[in-house]
Amino acid sequence: MCGISGIVGFKNIAMPLLNSIRHLEYRGYDSCGVAIMSNNSIVVRKNIGSVDEVNEREKLSEPDGKIGIAHTRWATHGGVTKENTHPHLSCEGDFALVHNGIISNYSEIKKELIHGGHRFNSETDTEVIVHLIEKYFVLSKDAEKAFIRALKRLEGTYAIAMITTHEKDKIFCAKRESPLVIGLGDEINYLGSDFNAFIDYTKNAVVLDDDEYAVVSRDHYFIKKIISGEVIRKRITEINWDSDMAKKGGYPHYMLKEIYEQPQCIVNAMQVDKALIKKLSDMIMKSRHVYLIGAGTTYYVSLMSEYHFSSIAGVFTPAINSDEFKNLAYIDKDTLIIAVSQSGETYDTLNALKFAKGKGAKTAAIVNVMGSSIARLVDHTIMQGSGPEICVISTKAALSQMAILLLVALEMAVNNKRISVRNKNEIEKQISHLPELIQKVLNEKSGFIHTIANKFSHINNWLYLGRGKYYPIALESSLKMKEVAYVHAEGMPAGFLKHGTIALIDEKLYSVIFMPPRSDEELYRLTAGSAEEIKARKGFTLGFHFGEKGEGEKLFSEEIILPKAHSIIAPFLELVVAQLFAYFTAVALKRNIDKPRSLAKSVTVA
Ligand code: F6R
Repeated sequence: MCGISGIVGFKNIAMPLLNSIRHLEYRGYDSCGVAIMSNNSIVVRKNIGSVDEVNEREKLSEPDGKIGIAHTRWATHGGVTKENTHPHLSCEGDFALVHNGIISNYSEIKKELIHGGHRFNSETDTEVIVHLIEKYFVLSKDAEKAFIRALKRLEGTYAIAMITTHEKDKIFCAKRESPLVIGLGDEINYLGSDFNAFIDYTKNAVVLDDDEYAVVSRDHYFIKKIISGEVIRKRITEINWDSDMAKKGGYPHYMLKEIYEQPQCIVNAMQVDKALIKKLSDMIMKSRHVYLIGAGTTYYVSLMSEYHFSSIAGVFTPAINSDEFKNLAYIDKDTLIIAVSQSGETYDTLNALKFAKGKGAKTAAIVNVMGSSIARLVDHTIMQGSGPEICVISTKAALSQMAILLLVALEMAVNNKRISVRNKNEIEKQISHLPELIQKVLNEKSGFIHTIANKFSHINNWLYLGRGKYYPIALESSLKMKEVAYVHAEGMPAGFLKHGTIALIDEKLYSVIFMPPRSDEELYRLTAGSAEEIKARKGFTLGFHFGEKGEGEKLFSEEIILPKAHSIIAPFLELVVAQLFAYFTAVALKRNIDKPRSLAKSVTVA
């Protein structure tokens, strides 16, 4: 996820352009830059750091011009460097371009362009687009034709904005799967990844759809289909949000927005480069001891992956809390540590990695922030590509990490001859249904979950019970409830209940039961047994299950029924329900949702 903006007007646009990327910084904040048409040539100013830091060094609003584009970056291809920062220029400096998304066929295009004499300055997938346009412009001498011809070659996802010295009063833009909106002013028009880019200046906008491109000048714009060239007429949308609401995409909180971004995050997780997945799988298979480490939520992600590695690939890799790592792990040169971290900065995880490295262990990590300390420290990094997670409470990042490590488990299972490549492809096909099923839960269940959360928001103590893979899900779900709603929720293996905690059960203690689908026969039967034990003692049970309405009448006091799902993805859906349950409980209790008390987004102290 990155932020794009553009402005074309009749007076100097440098200051509003800078302002627009300030408003888009929440979409990506590792580097930023502007390209402004000044005295018939394109001036690019860019660098790494926040918008204010870069502005301090590069004076982003200094160039004088009436047309410009800008970008704030969340790195996916290529490290966080000045060279990789957008905008990117063509060889002759006559085209400048910014991009949000991932061009999956960029390496083959890059080879072709290098062969044709183009010189590249960055490691990004984006830079190929601007050189491709330059190549086609040389042939047609028509900027729009060159732009469309290049778009037709691109595979993957994009929102693109481009300016050129050959058409000094136009911004060319296009979109496929990444968002792009045109803002309409008076003798001035705007472009943005979302309304934030221009909400201070206009409330009138036109939203581009997939596979459309637009050419925008100060008093005119048109939109056409990329393939057919058909002209598209669109309704003007009036934005009635304030700028804080706009940043949250209309959601009342980042937490909810990020929960709703999860279908896209799983799509991104599934697009992680297969070579990186394979490399991690090979590293695991070659090591004698392997530990998964993380803190808080990422410890629970690690625990989930311990279950996946063991049950799918037959490889036992204990998950250890980063802060207990030194006290517990046995490390030698044949050891591999896999760290899971959204921020890549968590002190306990970083410290555990340094300790292990000091003893000669190999290290790998799944992280969301490129250029972070953990990403730089380890021998092998997988970037999860979930986009910035602004809410202090982790939701989308954790779900993506679980999905990526599930893909690693499948790769290991093939390596270990537990499944064939065909089986693996079949299971991956099941996983590819996860985005649509999460979307279904979000669309069809969130109203009901809201009602249930309101109804039980006065309950002070919950037990969250699950078996097998549903145990880490229960733990992570209970953490969501604790941290956002400040309500006590204790996660535990359902089978553990009878060994002591059952003494607590009475009509005042409420439990959530994470039921597997019936196809997981033994797990289903045993989890149902735990629900019965609670009901028999007059305890309250809220069942998350995949059965029919009323099926769990004897087992559950209340039920949230999920759409039918393959057992490999069923736990993910239950986590989404638990995230919503915690969120709506916190709303009912009027908590400080995006910044709960005493919590920080990255814990960089011991
Ligand atoms: C919980 C949460 C924390 C973090 C933990 C590790 O919602 O966000 O428990 O998961 O502090 O942080 P990262 O993943 O940045 O290493």
